[in-house]
Amino acid sequence: MVVKIKRQIGSGLSLLAKLGLLLITLLLVIAAILLLVFLLPRHHRAPLPPGSPPPGNGSNPDDSVVAFDFSPFLIQYKSGRIYRMDGTDRVRAGVDEATGVTSKDVVIDRGTGLGARMYLPPAAGGEKKDLGAALPVLVFYHGGAFVIESAFTPKYHDYLNKVTAKARVLAVSVDYRLAPEHPLPTAYDDSWQALNWVARNARSGPEPWLQDRGNITRLFLAGDSAGGNIAHNMAMRAGREGGLEGGVAIMGIILLDPYFWGKTPVGAETTDQGRRRRYEQTWSFICNGKYGIDDPLVDPLSMPASEWRKMACSRVAVTVSDLDDFMERGKAYAVALRDSGWSGQVEQYETAGENHVYFLDKPSSPKSAKELAFVVGYLSRE
Ligand SMILES: *[C@@H]1O[C@H](CO)[C@@H](O)[C@H](O)[C@H]1NC(C)=O
Ligand SMILES: *[C@@H]1O[C@H](CO)[C@@H](O)[C@H](O)[C@H]1NC(C)=O
Repeated sequence: MVVKIKRQIGSGLSLLAKLGLLLITLLLVIAAILLLVFLLPRHHRAPLPPGSPPPGNGSNPDDSVVAFDFSPFLIQYKSGRIYRMDGTDRVRAGVDEATGVTSKDVVIDRGTGLGARMYLPPAAGGEKKDLGAALPVLVFYHGGAFVIESAFTPKYHDYLNKVTAKARVLAVSVDYRLAPEHPLPTAYDDSWQALNWVARNARSGPEPWLQDRGNITRLFLAGDSAGGNIAHNMAMRAGREGGLEGGVAIMGIILLDPYFWGKTPVGAETTDQGRRRRYEQTWSFICNGKYGIDDPLVDPLSMPASEWRKMACSRVAVTVSDLDDFMERGKAYAVALRDSGWSGQVEQYETAGENHVYFLDKPSSPKSAKELAFVVGYLSRE
């Protein structure tokens, strides 16, 4: 009897011990999971963007916490660190072997670092100098959502070499400052300053290419995406402020798949609320909350006809690509300008089955060559 009770107590104790051990093991596992979840830096849990960002400052945790994800353009960390995912490569200015175009870099404002890359076509007729013929002047604004790219990236350098050679223009590719380090309106102000620098130097120097070779009565502005937005806003500003320095007038502007957006969908534009909110958030990031998504800077369709009529140039060309989110706005832009009673000529060039600024991403495709021919023809026409 006594032996039996002892045995029962013994087996009871060992059961309790086993249960306790199991409980402790369970608790340890849960603790380990919680530790993993809360102690690992946040960005280790989110999928990493393509290309790997350089590691942040290890002693500053905020240097690795994502504050704004503007993929595939850039990522801003909580510490303020910016990782640009694209458009940071640079090529030197010089003579382009393929086209014979010569380029050089100029500083426009030492204080802000505003500069430009200038392009001059080779002399026409081989050996014979053609210093007598003045070249149309093209001021170009690169794209990149206002946050990436520069006048010095291979993509834009190649494009400007081609346009300069084929259209025989004197091109000035503006290297305006980028957001978010310099939120809007910095890009607009830099672009305006550069444009007036071109107008001034073409009239009276001292910049020799502009002074000796530029025909400023044939001044064109062009830009793709964000650069198209800038070109439009420069022509509007010229209209509001009574023109450029020295009474120089803009002959035409070419908006290549321009970056325009707005609150309400236009035409067959996407009604996907998530995607529309994303456009609002990125625009707000670009201008640091200064302008709404329906501001005329980004939504020219919000302007009354009387504003449209202030556009200070005589010709406007808008290109759109069928698979581009911005297509409907590009088309509506052309219609609104035409319907406003503005006195100039509006033209639209459409490419089927292509994405936003495909002509820069696939420069050797036949459709890109066709689009380039349109731009060249537009610059060459009287
Ligand atoms: C890293 O962050 C710490 C703390 O914020 C700072 O003191 C240090 O200067 C930073 N180091 C570098 C290389 O930026
Ligand atoms: C400049 O362009 C205007 C307008 O096309 C033209 O009439 C003029 O002859 C050109 N000037 C020179 C020097 O080529």
